[in-house]
Amino acid sequence: MNEAATGPAPRSMLHRLLLRLPAETSHDIALAGLQLGQSFGHGWIRSRFQFRDQRLSQKWLGELFPNPVGLAAGFDKDGRVVPGMEALGFGFVEVGTVTPRRQKGNPRPRLFRHPQVASLENAMGFNNAGAKELARRLQRGRDVGIPVGVNIGKARGTPNRDARDDYAELAAAFDGLCDYLVVNVSSPNTPGLRDLQTLDTVRMILGACREQTKLPLLVKLSPDLENDRVVGLAVGAVAAGAAGVILTNTTTNYALLPSAKRRGGLSGVVLRRRSRELLRAVAGELFGKCLLISVGGIDSGSEAYRRLKSGAGLVQVYSALVFRGPQLVSSILRELTELAESDGFARVSDAVGADL
Ligand SMILES: Cc1cc2nc3c(=O)[nH]c(=O)nc-3n(C[C@H](O)[C@H](O)[C@H](O)COP(=O)(O)O)c2cc1C
Repeated sequence: MNEAATGPAPRSMLHRLLLRLPAETSHDIALAGLQLGQSFGHGWIRSRFQFRDQRLSQKWLGELFPNPVGLAAGFDKDGRVVPGMEALGFGFVEVGTVTPRRQKGNPRPRLFRHPQVASLENAMGFNNAGAKELARRLQRGRDVGIPVGVNIGKARGTPNRDARDDYAELAAAFDGLCDYLVVNVSSPNTPGLRDLQTLDTVRMILGACREQTKLPLLVKLSPDLENDRVVGLAVGAVAAGAAGVILTNTTTNYALLPSAKRRGGLSGVVLRRRSRELLRAVAGELFGKCLLISVGGIDSGSEAYRRLKSGAGLVQVYSALVFRGPQLVSSILRELTELAESDGFARVSDAVGADL
């Protein structure tokens, strides 16, 4: 059974209109609008949307996160709207996935909404402007006020036996330009990418990246492996020097959504249970030993709070932002502070791992 979506309903006229357009067109318009907004109305966006509370801040990876709610990878692949996302209230932003050179991705249409279950299906295929362009943007936009991660992936045309070289090249390209790197071996839309999820390969990629940079390295994993394998990979990655694990990427388990087009990865509410389950499984082994970031079907403060209590230091959202609109972030943050307060925690971070 699918679970219901929670959180605020779409509010503005503009948001309703966007939800009527083809999904990727809406995404392009939203990005362009936010890019414009961050240039000419950054202060206005902040005053209209941002929720701040000292009790939300926490330190991870040697950085101060003003709050634990981040933008998941894939929304801002080319780092175009990091200041805009900060203005909307996100506590951190993960840009990418970026590949060594520009890629077009799969032909359109490649992004579909399933509004009845507040879920998305995407077969984007790492469309992005390439490492040079992203590095240029990050260089220009230093000191944005929140931590920024770069999610890196191998090029579509790179055979798996050479994947390590792509990751190493990307690690070198972003050294000193962000706060953490994510080794993405879990997107379903680059053929063969998920086959890189073996312990030997993940260790090899981490080692190759480590030769290029001292940045914290995180690994993002798929929900479609068995629990034991995910736990084994996560534990092995941390033993090999990873500073954290991100759970999870999108799923191709179409049993979760019989009406799916079966063209790409599912995200949003249909992914929620699996994402919760894997977090708990991995936290059982790794809580307190590294940063765990939970992503998948988070659309309310209570869901975010649940992930924190299950051991996530930070959470990320993507799909809910599409269905709920930009008020989502402040609404999650407000609810988080209320829930932590009513449980008697002085700070939201005191709730992290409380249910383990
Ligand atoms: C359109 C779209 C594109 C995505 N692109 C990427 C990507 O490039 N790299 C990545 O690691 N995850 C990507 N993701 C996965 C998200 O980062 C996230 O793991 C997933 O959507 C689950 O979170 P959600 O349920 O809040 O959407 C993408 C998701 C969507 C919907």
